[in-house]
Amino acid sequence: MSALPPQPDQAPDSRSHPPLPPVRVERRDVGEEESRRANGPDWDRYADDYQATHGEFLGDAGFVWGPEGLTEAEVGVLGPVAGRDVLEVGSGAGQCSRWVRDQGGRSFGVDLSYRQLQHSRRIDEGTGVDVPSVQATATHLPFADASFDAVFSSFGALQFVRDLDRAVAETARVLRPGGRFAFSITHPTRWMFPDDPGEAGLVASQSYWDRTPYVEVDDASGEVSYVEHHRTLGDWVGVLAGHGFAIVRLVEPEWPEHHDRVWGGWSATRGRWTPGTAIFACDLR
Ligand SMILES: C[S@@+](CC[C@H](N)C(=O)[O-])C[C@H]1O[C@@H](n2cnc3c(N)ncnc32)[C@H](O)[C@@H]1O
Repeated sequence: MSALPPQPDQAPDSRSHPPLPPVRVERRDVGEEESRRANGPDWDRYADDYQATHGEFLGDAGFVWGPEGLTEAEVGVLGPVAGRDVLEVGSGAGQCSRWVRDQGGRSFGVDLSYRQLQHSRRIDEGTGVDVPSVQATATHLPFADASFDAVFSSFGALQFVRDLDRAVAETARVLRPGGRFAFSITHPTRWMFPDDPGEAGLVASQSYWDRTPYVEVDDASGEVSYVEHHRTLGDWVGVLAGHGFAIVRLVEPEWPEHHDRVWGGWSATRGRWTPGTAIFACDLR
């Protein structure tokens, strides 16, 4: 839910947190560097509130794929992790990677936001389960080729990068042959609807095929302060196949019957009608 609700004809569906400084919403193209310059500080500003609001739901060592609450233990899209080298991209406070560690995997985190990584250290210290993590971006992973058996991202970096081709190429580079890439994103069909958890969020107001990014501009400075990028399902298939991935699963979690938690635009009201999350699993050939 946005503090300043974007106009329905301007809004993507995927804004998952309220903008903190006063902003105006625009739709326009934004490059990779500008996206990164905006989104890193945005997550730094938002991290404390994000962890206070969602930390309990996520669990300090929990692996949740999205607001529907579907867990990796239930769905198994990442596959076996015991004894494997696993990278989480857009790892935030490392909750998912800590679950992987508890299952015997050697997981590592990458995140753009220093403040999110400070929360990760805080939880490392509280739980005694450390997730070694580095501040970096999904489009330049600071790891050698073929370092990991699996790479994953739970609503992490992928919808925040402009250069998705580069991010997927980087993922393929650091994976070993046959490695698994699993990730969740806002379901692409949600782009058509306003980011409203109520009935208004069920009325399509913009084209599914309009990829013009959702942009927030800081009113005071005129700087871009937050960006989300949209791709259609066909775009995702194309970019994954183009980097040698074979898609093995596409999970569209259904809204659980007694789940009444509202998270941004995700709610029972909408979840009963339309998918909010898409989880892809693919293997590097
Ligand atoms: C919605 S959070 C998801 C984190 C974690 N999976 C969770 O559920 O809390 C998105 C994370 O992606 C990170 N992020 C955004 N853009 C990124 C980029 N280009 N590279 C790496 N991480 C990025 C943010 O800093 C944030 O921690």
